[in-house]
Amino acid sequence: MNEVMKLMQEHSSVRSYTNKKISKELLEQLVASGQAAASSSFIQAYSIIRVLDTEKRKIIADAAGGQSWIIDAAEFMLMCADMQRINYASSKNGEGELKGYTEHFIAATVDTALMAQNVLLAAESMGLGGVFIGGIRNNPQRVAKTLGLPKHVYPAFGLCLGWPAHKNAVKPRMPVATVLHQDSYDIDAVAANVDAYDEAFAEYYGSRGNNAKSSNWSAPTTRAIQGKKREHMLEFLKNQGFLKC
Ligand SMILES: Cc1cc2nc3c(=O)[nH]c(=O)nc-3n(C[C@H](O)[C@H](O)[C@H](O)COP(=O)(O)O)c2cc1C
Repeated sequence: MNEVMKLMQEHSSVRSYTNKKISKELLEQLVASGQAAASSSFIQAYSIIRVLDTEKRKIIADAAGGQSWIIDAAEFMLMCADMQRINYASSKNGEGELKGYTEHFIAATVDTALMAQNVLLAAESMGLGGVFIGGIRNNPQRVAKTLGLPKHVYPAFGLCLGWPAHKNAVKPRMPVATVLHQDSYDIDAVAANVDAYDEAFAEYYGSRGNNAKSSNWSAPTTRAIQGKKREHMLEFLKNQGFLKC
């Protein structure tokens, strides 16, 4: 274990911030750190929309189901998967327009996530805290319109950043042995692993000092995932030029 791994393993999402701003210099360093992530075919298929306008932040917070930290955070950034530049480059180089292949959607989404995680990790290394906001996909059309997103660009998720006023305890992850398979996928272990993690997580929730809960891992998580089908996404993504073939 070194300092970088220690920092990574101390991550917890921060949703409560002081009023202190983040300097433009630091913000630009965070973005540069994000851009240092690996990128599929080196497309660098992402754009970040930094949202300073309070009215726009209010619209986005509302679209995301009333998440007030979007308004309160020192910075709110929309992390967009962006094939607009490579679409231009493709035409420029006689390769024709992008057709909207599923593979390109995956490449752009992965690029965006790797970049964004680097931004958050760099921020955390400077004492900042943050939280990703998938809630913007509740109403991606409204978010895209508010921030003027063109075709070949889709809003993947947001990122709130600020100086922490409050930090939650680190949530215990699944044991390494649960997620690390050897040579082939161990389907037989799934039920026992989930059951064991449920038990361990219930203990963790029950023992939390300021925010004790009587719950395991799987019940609220499956409720959340089944409650967020966002069936509008396919049509929205197709309209933005993704997932057409
Ligand atoms: C892509 C993504 C989207 C997320 N969306 C939201 C969100 O809309 N609102 C929120 O409060 N937390 C959101 N989160 C944070 C998760 O709830 C959080 O990471 C998870 O519960 C684990 O907690 P931790 O980050 O504190 O360890 C999101 C996380 C990811 C990776």
